[in-house]
Amino acid sequence: MRAYHLTTGEAWQLRLADMPDPQPAADEVLIRLHAAGLNYLDLMVARGRLGDTTSPFVPGTDGAGEIVATGERVSGWVPGERVISGLIVDWSAGLLTEANGRRLRGVTMPGSLADYAVVPASALVRIPESLSYTQAVTLPIAATTAWNAIVKSRTGPASTVALLGTGGVSLFALQYAKAAGARVILASSSDEKLERARQLGADVLINYRTQPAWDEAVLAATGGRGADLVVETVGGGTFARSVNAAAIGGTVYVVGFVGGMEASLPLLPVMVKTLNILGSQTGSTSDLEAAMRALQQARIEPVIDRVFAFDEAGDAYRYLASAAHVGKVVIDFDRPA
Ligand SMILES: NC(=O)c1ccc[n+]([C@@H]2O[C@H](COP(=O)([O-])OP(=O)(O)OC[C@H]3O[C@@H](n4cnc5c(N)ncnc54)[C@H](OP(=O)(O)O)[C@@H]3O)[C@@H](O)[C@H]2O)c1
Repeated sequence: MRAYHLTTGEAWQLRLADMPDPQPAADEVLIRLHAAGLNYLDLMVARGRLGDTTSPFVPGTDGAGEIVATGERVSGWVPGERVISGLIVDWSAGLLTEANGRRLRGVTMPGSLADYAVVPASALVRIPESLSYTQAVTLPIAATTAWNAIVKSRTGPASTVALLGTGGVSLFALQYAKAAGARVILASSSDEKLERARQLGADVLINYRTQPAWDEAVLAATGGRGADLVVETVGGGTFARSVNAAAIGGTVYVVGFVGGMEASLPLLPVMVKTLNILGSQTGSTSDLEAAMRALQQARIEPVIDRVFAFDEAGDAYRYLASAAHVGKVVIDFDRPA
């Protein structure tokens, strides 16, 4: 099969290679991949900052495809079914544990940038007929994470949600928050991106380049009350602002680090406002199923910025790294270059 191998490091490269097709173990299925979805996590792996850096490594976190073979102990799945897989393949439901949290597709085990992949059957979620492979492949990481932020913060019609940027997680959070009836405040780097967020239902827009004190803008937009949920996709320098922007009893959902992995913050407001600082590790297969169901019931369409062909995978990585995108960047294996 065709597979990309990753050379990690600052000058990361993807090299197209030929390798044997993988074989499913007894509890696994063999999937012929039709689409891969890129996440910021793929950039971290590609830069050698996370995951398996031994060569040859097949990268690619999110994948969608059709089952072509099943291991002898697999029941309930048959060849021809269209599927996606959760990121953390052994985390079916319930709490994350040390044992079920080890294997992450495209991070600590082979990923989606190949013609075929093997995945435990317990990690699979069916793709509904209404979704294409390229749409479905946006869900495993970004939609699951956004869905858990909404569920765990008990976001509803009386809530205000604050979001940072217009990347994959933020835009799914925007769509789920609007479906839950919440008011959404979104901060982004450009007015063009903010206009796109407005079209998707964002109620209050903040350009954090012209208005770096976006937390004060959130407070101003809520009459000083703050946001019930802040989805912290940036980390680093914004974390203290997220704490400032949160309402009493609110949740800061700690998701990302595009602005850095270290943060310093004043502790007093965390205590005085009795904040819930909740860490995110994407979610389980059951969470992905719920995110898929919610997407269907609320008639949410994933926001896809650009679709690349398989041969253009390197361009897709570079495009994501440029942060020019709004929503998701995906690779369609069935599209000619
Ligand atoms: N822990 C978890 O469960 C989990 C799950 C999913 C993702 N993540 C992490 O969450 C983060 C976001 O993921 P993603 O896939 O949504 O990334 P993404 O699609 O690459 O989006 C990142 C966006 O963040 C915005 N941004 C960049 N620097 C910023 C800054 N200094 N202040 C405010 N916004 C900034 C930019 O949007 P604008 O140009 O519109 O501002 C950028 O496009 C990443 O760090 C990722 O690894 C973690």
